[in-house]
Amino acid sequence: MSLEFVPNRRSHGSYKWKKYPEDTLPLWVADMDFKVANCISEALQKAHEHALYGYTLPKKELIGTVINRLKDKYDWQVEASSIVWLPGVVPALNIACRAFVSKGENVITSTPIYPPFLEAPKFSEKTLYTADLKENDGNYEMDFDALKKKITDRTSLYLLCNPHNPVGKAFSKEELLKLAEICLDKNAIICSDEIHADLLLDENTLHTPIATLSQEIADRSVTLMSPSKTFNTPGLGFAFAVIPNYKVRKRFLRAMKGIVPYPLQLGMIAGHAAYEAGEPWLNELLDQLRKNQELIKNFISEHMPKIKYKPAAATYLAWLDIRGLKLENPYHFFLKNGVALSNGKDFGWPGFLRLNFATSEEVLLQALERLHKAYKSIN
Ligand SMILES: Cc1ncc(COP(=O)(O)O)c(C=O)c1O
Repeated sequence: MSLEFVPNRRSHGSYKWKKYPEDTLPLWVADMDFKVANCISEALQKAHEHALYGYTLPKKELIGTVINRLKDKYDWQVEASSIVWLPGVVPALNIACRAFVSKGENVITSTPIYPPFLEAPKFSEKTLYTADLKENDGNYEMDFDALKKKITDRTSLYLLCNPHNPVGKAFSKEELLKLAEICLDKNAIICSDEIHADLLLDENTLHTPIATLSQEIADRSVTLMSPSKTFNTPGLGFAFAVIPNYKVRKRFLRAMKGIVPYPLQLGMIAGHAAYEAGEPWLNELLDQLRKNQELIKNFISEHMPKIKYKPAAATYLAWLDIRGLKLENPYHFFLKNGVALSNGKDFGWPGFLRLNFATSEEVLLQALERLHKAYKSIN
């Protein structure tokens, strides 16, 4: 079976496709224009034959699959009792801010960052400090000096995104260890959003869950994972947190009470099928994403040299440095020219745009041509 592109998802109520007018190409929110793997649609069809959608607990088989996957991929031995089942990752970021940060304490994260990281502390009236990543010619790394300057004795939570949305970096073990040392020195919890862990485009890059680096780090960590980005099922509501330390888990569970529902039955079914049999589909997807990434790189260097872009190791998101264009409002400029991208300002870095390239080469090329036309009008 080959990857099946769906050309226009407006009639399915797709948020990605419906937010903007019909003549706009939507390359913004992180979902993909590809149908799911057959193993997922078949599992869902089977569920519909049963036709009963009551409150559902994770099945023993699903729990086993998740545990085996973490062991096989990361040599990470996780106890079933350490897993907290969730309907999504963003709710968990918000729960972490409520669970681990008391009044007068603060949260820290590294910018640019996926906007819900910036919003979650505000929603629970917690102070957020940010430290910029270090950018060097399109390469990004943690700025540990900046982080040390911002973190305080009252910092009780660091929100980590690894692989990183939007810059697409999969952090090395060395960087993660250094980061953990700084956080643990303040006794802060590390909440690590690893939703993009399977989307590794650079074949020499590995994903390292920060919790696997030592028992001490595991004891201060909440790791968030989900098949939803990898297998394109974000509308099905299924994710999980691994929280090895009982006391930390108890605080998280207490903050969830009455607010966060069970994961959705169909999401668990889809997630189980994806983890069990989705690997061939995933390999095809990664090949397509690598091609798309190459297409962007070549197109930009040939036609839009004032835009800085370097293919990233992970995710299907291209982080474009368009400061060289000196536009007052780059997001609106390109939107007016028929392409909806994500606004860097929402990630804490104005002057950048994020482009979601999980679509067909045809749509991508059409969007690049529109960007080029707009670019030429000011250059
Ligand atoms: C880093 C990151 N975390 C979380 C999410 C969304 O997670 P969920 O839909 O499970 O809330 C996204 C979606 O783009 C993401 O990029």
